[in-house]
Amino acid sequence: MKIKVFDNYEELSKNAALEIINQVKSNPESVIGFATGSSPMGLYNELINDYKLNNTSYRNILSFNLDEYFGIDRNHSQSYYHFMHTNLFKHIDIDDKNVNIPSGYTNNVKLECEAYNKKLDKNPIDVQILGIGRNGHIGFNEPGTKFDSVTHQVELDENTRIDNARFFSSLEEVPTQAVTMGIKNILNSKKVILIASGENKADAVYSMINGPVDQSCPASALQMHDNVVVFLDKFAAKKLKKA
Ligand code: F6R
Repeated sequence: MKIKVFDNYEELSKNAALEIINQVKSNPESVIGFATGSSPMGLYNELINDYKLNNTSYRNILSFNLDEYFGIDRNHSQSYYHFMHTNLFKHIDIDDKNVNIPSGYTNNVKLECEAYNKKLDKNPIDVQILGIGRNGHIGFNEPGTKFDSVTHQVELDENTRIDNARFFSSLEEVPTQAVTMGIKNILNSKKVILIASGENKADAVYSMINGPVDQSCPASALQMHDNVVVFLDKFAAKKLKKA
């Protein structure tokens, strides 16, 4: 794993965004894996600014999102479909038909997951963007998830629901389940960039990098991947030893 530590979230975001901009410039038909949540927001703003300034085109990329809440319609204000459209897709020239986000609003979730896995197998991700949960989750692969898991329906950890309650009006409104790419899907990406900022991520970041490769910290699976770049601010890097 390559670890890059920045003084602040703005610097981190600018540098992480370059990974995507350079990838899309070198291959306009790149397959990009997107994440939601607070961590990649700065990166998405940088992509939007760059698009306005330099016209970097996303017209021919294919996108896959990591996850989606189960049981809420894609037009719900907290669906990840809505998040991606509001915070990135509507500001750039991505083609809607090239956008893939698992549906959590289906009566045949098994079929939905199978179809997502098939599409991912056919279109390997060039760069996957990740955040990390305080419990070490990546996507919604909570502690205990098998490393050979593929897209599946999950029960959200209570702590994950509590962490995400900030986006809802109450904890009761936070869905209890989600659909997520599995750890194997994530490891199949050619490159992974993971973003973490803030002291509340420091323990998870430490376990991901220095802990044993173990299901208790899903992000530790990334130690088995040979092309991972971790973008940290100095607060999230606080527990790491100085090189
Ligand atoms: C989001 C996702 C999650 C988040 C993680 C961190 O699509 O899969 O793993 O990346 O929960 O969330 P934030 O960035 O809000 O701290």
